[in-house]
Amino acid sequence: MSEGAAKKDERLKFQAVRGTRDLLPPETALWNRVEQAAHDVFGTFSFGEIRLPAIETLGLFARSLGTETDIVGKEMFLLAEREPSVVVHPGRFGPPPQSEQDRRDEAERVFSEPAMRESIEHQIEESVLVLRPEATASVCRAYIEHGMQQLPQPVKLYYMGPMFRRERPQKGRYRQFYQIGAEVLGGSDAPAIDAEVIEMVMMFFDRLELQGVQLDLNSIGCRECRPRYIELLRAELLKVKDKLGADSQRRIETNPLRVLDSKLESEQGIIAALPHIADHLCEECAAHYAAVKHQLEMRGVIYRENWRLVRGLDYYMRTTFEITAQGLGSQNAVCGGGRYDGLVELLGGPPTKGIGFAIGEDRLILSLQESGKAPAQQGRDVYIAWMGERAHATAIRAAKDLRKAGFSVELPPVEQKFGKALGQADKLGAKYALILGDNEVSEGLWTLKTLADGSQAKYTEPDLLEHLRKQKALSS
Ligand code: HAM
Repeated sequence: MSEGAAKKDERLKFQAVRGTRDLLPPETALWNRVEQAAHDVFGTFSFGEIRLPAIETLGLFARSLGTETDIVGKEMFLLAEREPSVVVHPGRFGPPPQSEQDRRDEAERVFSEPAMRESIEHQIEESVLVLRPEATASVCRAYIEHGMQQLPQPVKLYYMGPMFRRERPQKGRYRQFYQIGAEVLGGSDAPAIDAEVIEMVMMFFDRLELQGVQLDLNSIGCRECRPRYIELLRAELLKVKDKLGADSQRRIETNPLRVLDSKLESEQGIIAALPHIADHLCEECAAHYAAVKHQLEMRGVIYRENWRLVRGLDYYMRTTFEITAQGLGSQNAVCGGGRYDGLVELLGGPPTKGIGFAIGEDRLILSLQESGKAPAQQGRDVYIAWMGERAHATAIRAAKDLRKAGFSVELPPVEQKFGKALGQADKLGAKYALILGDNEVSEGLWTLKTLADGSQAKYTEPDLLEHLRKQKALSS
């Protein structure tokens, strides 16, 4: 193989992994703007930022989200260890194999004994590491680990960063995606907390001028009333089992609430006739739900009740919500959240109330781009066209002073003819070209060309800075 062919071959091998992508400028400027808006808006609600690891134990999510959920059952990325203490293979776990046959025999033996199986599963949950599929469980772990129940309650935290789920990639759905989330832990479960958290995310979307925002709201009851509703739902679903698709038929046993999530056209009529959870909430949950709605109305937050909004994770109770936005096709949920009282306790902490949400940042950005709310190509303020050694020294000093004053500057590393330099400045979308040649340097008068209209004027160094500052203030 020729050297060239080998090089080409090498290049072909390295591509971003399926479901992951590089985010490039100028798009990253929009990501930064969105994240800055989150810092600003969440800060005004007195939330503090928490930075969490991307790696956690399998057990954290198995416990929090539930082992029957798609995320835990099929979508988590498990990290392989160089010298595994246990071996994880599809659907089952066991000790390290000696030979293939030994491995099978050992796994058979171990998994036929329930106590052994349980102890191994526990070991696995503690020792197997995964890439986090979400961050609510991590925030609860951190709350316990750092004794945050000792702090004034509630503790209000927000986070942003990548999450990982092995889903089928499509527009708005990635295997590495980014969330911006917030959680309120501890204190009471006052409905005003639910409403304020929702108000905060709506204010954030408003700040970004996100278009077509629609808030869906529901209550899925508590440990008392939800099991009763689930039994009722199961009984009703069994009556129509034959008319349901295979997934829903299976879910009648595993998780009947998930049937309400179904998008299958043929099931919609059947689902519409099922009992609504709102009619089966216990007295406390019904009162809590009514108060959350009232609190939202007091804050001028417009919502739509959606009795089918059950959310896919086990930790939720009472308030659940989802927000959709325009331009996203079938993956149009841009935010999901809800109350999860009891999750901290489930993870070994004290009884603690909790509520929060996570925004899909990739989808938020997509929607902003589709509606034309994304900023155009980020141009430079000043391109310095210089010629000659003395001019180069002046150009370096000018670049430093302009950058100190907050202007973005492009300083070409090698001398270029002025014509070429101006063409380059144009291509890069610079607003101004600062022309520095021998004449300018000896006269102490610098030429500034405004590229939009081609006009030119001469300034002393301090006047130039003043002029640029004034222009910037006018345009912002
Ligand atoms: P979730 O509904 O699984 O909830 O995810 C929240 C948001 O993350 C979704 O609405 C969506 O915008 C985005 N998202 C999820 N999966 C993907 C993906 N594969 N590609 C792109 N975006 C995606 C949670 O994660 C909960 N932890 C939210 C929460 C916080 N509940 C209470 N506190």
